[in-house]
Amino acid sequence: MATEQIFIPTKENQSRAWISSMEEYQKMYDASVKDPEKFWDEQAKEFLYWKKPWDTTLEWDFTKPYVSWFKGGLTNASYNCLDRHTQGLHRNKAAIIWESDGGRTKMYTYQSLLTKVCRFANVLKDHGVKKGDVVAIFMPMVPEVVTAMLACARIGAIHTIIFSGFSSQALRDRIQDSNAKCLITVDAGKRGGKVIPLKVMADEAMLETPTIETCFVVTHSRATINMQEGRDFYYHEETRRRDISNECEPEWVEADHPLFILYTSGSTGKPKGVVHSTGGYLLGCAITTKYVFDLHDEDIYFCSADVGWITGHSYIVYGPLCIGGTSLMFEGIPTYPNAGRFWEICEKHAVNQFYTAPTAIRSLMKNGPDEPSKYNLSNLRILGSVGEPINPEAWLWYFHEVGQGRCSVVDTWWQTESGAHMISNLPGCTPMKPGSATLPFFGVQPIILTEEKKEAAVDEDGRLCIKFPWPSMLRRMWGEDSDKRMMDNYFGIFPGYYFSGDGAALDKDGYYWLKGRVDDVINVSGHRMSTAEVEAALNSHAAVAESAVVGYPHEIKGEGIYGYVVLNEGFEPSDDLTQMIVGHVRKDIGPIASPDYIHFVPDLPKTRSGKIMRRIVRKIAAGKIDKEGFGDLSTLVDPDIVDVIIETRPNA
Ligand code: PRX
Repeated sequence: MATEQIFIPTKENQSRAWISSMEEYQKMYDASVKDPEKFWDEQAKEFLYWKKPWDTTLEWDFTKPYVSWFKGGLTNASYNCLDRHTQGLHRNKAAIIWESDGGRTKMYTYQSLLTKVCRFANVLKDHGVKKGDVVAIFMPMVPEVVTAMLACARIGAIHTIIFSGFSSQALRDRIQDSNAKCLITVDAGKRGGKVIPLKVMADEAMLETPTIETCFVVTHSRATINMQEGRDFYYHEETRRRDISNECEPEWVEADHPLFILYTSGSTGKPKGVVHSTGGYLLGCAITTKYVFDLHDEDIYFCSADVGWITGHSYIVYGPLCIGGTSLMFEGIPTYPNAGRFWEICEKHAVNQFYTAPTAIRSLMKNGPDEPSKYNLSNLRILGSVGEPINPEAWLWYFHEVGQGRCSVVDTWWQTESGAHMISNLPGCTPMKPGSATLPFFGVQPIILTEEKKEAAVDEDGRLCIKFPWPSMLRRMWGEDSDKRMMDNYFGIFPGYYFSGDGAALDKDGYYWLKGRVDDVINVSGHRMSTAEVEAALNSHAAVAESAVVGYPHEIKGEGIYGYVVLNEGFEPSDDLTQMIVGHVRKDIGPIASPDYIHFVPDLPKTRSGKIMRRIVRKIAAGKIDKEGFGDLSTLVDPDIVDVIIETRPNA
């Protein structure tokens, strides 16, 4: 459903907003692109504390690629997120409100969080963790994960969070790639009433991660666990030690010092370790949190993401805390104990800004359409969306049923690599078009290029690229060959530009419409998944000779995972085998990678040069089986295989 409707922010949202008119937005945007260095110089002074000012605002060359912001400046993320706020009126303000899976609440003030962070930072130091060391974090949504992140930042250690829904093998791979020295985990996590044995999984991973010297375990669910002497320590015992001080002088690091590594999926099978900086990243998070969520001092802000993803990093932890906000984090899932859980939390804590993903909206729209009306949501002012294009139906439901026609819906387009919002409306001024992420944020210079590398015309589909550096952009890839991988993935495809991997078009009003990934990345429930990664998992099963994985449109998840499988000799298709193969992928990567369909085929449609003709398998998975639309099949080794695949399609 396309809609031509345009929604204007209400007078109330406009009058409260930091940016309350399009003239103001335009003026600030123009300044940010006309003289980016001057603009970011001013913003960096306004938003961050610097122990030592920088010498050069920006150095860059996208053809290398090389980007450095605020060179020579010294700062610290934990100081910016905590100490600054404890020195004034915010000392006793809630920094983190934590809502448990079962409905308990805990609250950490800026002062209490600072003390916890300092104590844990001292524990880390005591165990030999130093500036530049990598610390892996395998934790669910417990408050200690924030303490762990900020404690690493405090001492200049680089954290790498591995989403707690990943398998032990995925955890192992990421620890091995990052060479982490220390692992922080919990005994077990809780989600939707289920207990997830994270320490058992960590133990399995640590059998093959010799670099891990120390493992800290947060007691969360009192599950029975094994502790390996000399390696494993209880977090709470260590942080309560009498010889551990409440104070820890921050390690002042260079602006470009890595704050964290976050692994994300690309076109290849191996996840990429995206490296973010300290100063530029923090600035990007802080400024967007203020303007895109229009966060004010008295607000309660709730982002439903998981800290294992970039949204959790930037918009549960670093952005809101850097500007002294109150960030609500939630351990559970939207549908437990029922589909009113998010709205119950919004009522209970009088939430003003709520940020979630289209997949959650669609699921709640289907499973609990009347739930929002059962709660008092009158404090909500801004509703955010992230992770994939939001379809207009979901947008309209969010706007009318959750926002009661009063709230601005901010559709924020960005990526792990961008660190912070890139294209989004501002809630107090931008006219909203359901399904469009609207206009670029300050300092962001997008361009849509055609495959011929020319600027696309109005309404013409092309590839979304960025012309000019922005402070929170990724700096490099973790590990060897960073320059080459940066070129292969982002800067070499459209030379001189950063390529996002997304398709997009610009309309006559200059609004951006995102069209999904154009590479071999699929977006399942807002999670990025590489088809090559799922194929590698499928191919490692004894029964599988070969496979091809594609995304297909899925009502709730946005995209589902469809796997074509060619079996080895001696194996026959069966439901049991399907279960076993799906279980194998879950074990290899995690439940988020479970194929929705396994389609057993005798062969894959391949060209004479041996390449799978992906456009064909994509079409068939999407149910588009009219061969008229398949284009030229004459380059296939065996064109008849296409008919066989169509005929054997599940539910065909
Ligand atoms: O395809 C775009 C989609 O999510 C991808 C980035 O995924 P990830 O790095 O996991 O980060 C997700 C959270 C920022 C993008 O390349 N995407 C994200 N937000 C939107 C979106 N697509 C359309 N509209 C959005 N608002």
